[in-house]
Amino acid sequence: QTAVSDGLPSRRSTHPDAQTVTQVRHWTDRLFSFRVTRPASLRFRAGEFVMLGLMGAPDARTGKAKPLLRAYSIASPPWDDELEFYSIKVPDGPLTSRLQHIVPGDGIILRPKPVGTLVHDALLPGKRLWLFATGTGIAPFASLLRDPQTFEDYDEVILTHTCRDRGELAYSAELLRSIPENALLLELLGAENLAKLRYYPTTTREESSVMGRITDLMRAGKLFTDLGVPPLSPEHDRAMVCGNLAFNLEIKAQLEGYGLREGANSTPGHYVLEKAFLD
Ligand code: A2P
Repeated sequence: QTAVSDGLPSRRSTHPDAQTVTQVRHWTDRLFSFRVTRPASLRFRAGEFVMLGLMGAPDARTGKAKPLLRAYSIASPPWDDELEFYSIKVPDGPLTSRLQHIVPGDGIILRPKPVGTLVHDALLPGKRLWLFATGTGIAPFASLLRDPQTFEDYDEVILTHTCRDRGELAYSAELLRSIPENALLLELLGAENLAKLRYYPTTTREESSVMGRITDLMRAGKLFTDLGVPPLSPEHDRAMVCGNLAFNLEIKAQLEGYGLREGANSTPGHYVLEKAFLD
């Protein structure tokens, strides 16, 4: 059974929801991804999140430790044997200040109860799917972009990813590069379907091919002229949004301005939105 650190270097405890870290990759000094074993009972839809974390420090009075959990979007596709996550490292963040130090073989806690609104079921049928991400908000889309339904349901799939600098775009850039290089994935998604996928990376604090916040680029119309597509319409366009709170609120107002209405699992709509995790 996998042991999970309980906050004291010398003590490790087994936990019913423990999973084992299999791989860790540090992308920048602020971002890392990791893979863990997948609980046999876990079934999820691309775009969903689970609660994940470590044991907290033992309570001074009772001596008992409680798990410290946060919502993490699953970045790997539903057919993968393992689970992948993509995380920010916050130096004084209660969880990520510790989680950033995990290495293969370590235990983490993962509650096998996936939930979330960034799922195909929450969107009405449409022609063009927009995936708008900032920072670690790319994670649910990394799962969705490797799910065949994403390409079966739409004629065109556009991923936008806005980060501070080019280094922070590496995760999405490598994802996009790796899809056509993976023969099994290519077969699963359909090589012809990959022609539907377009990638629009932007940076805000370092020079790159497109500079600026996606919200400003959309307002200015540059997003649409660059891609050669018309502005969004409730008739054809569907959107999924995942990023920091200010971004989510701003783009939500813009999408509503185009006449798109928010959907949920119970009442599908034109767009869905979820906050990226920030410790
Ligand atoms: P900016 O550099 O102008 O703040 P973070 O790493 O802080 O979560 O930010 C990720 C990206 O999201 C950054 O490029 C940041 O741009 C951008 N961003 C922050 N707030 C907004 C917003 N309200 N609308 C659009 N993009 C935003």
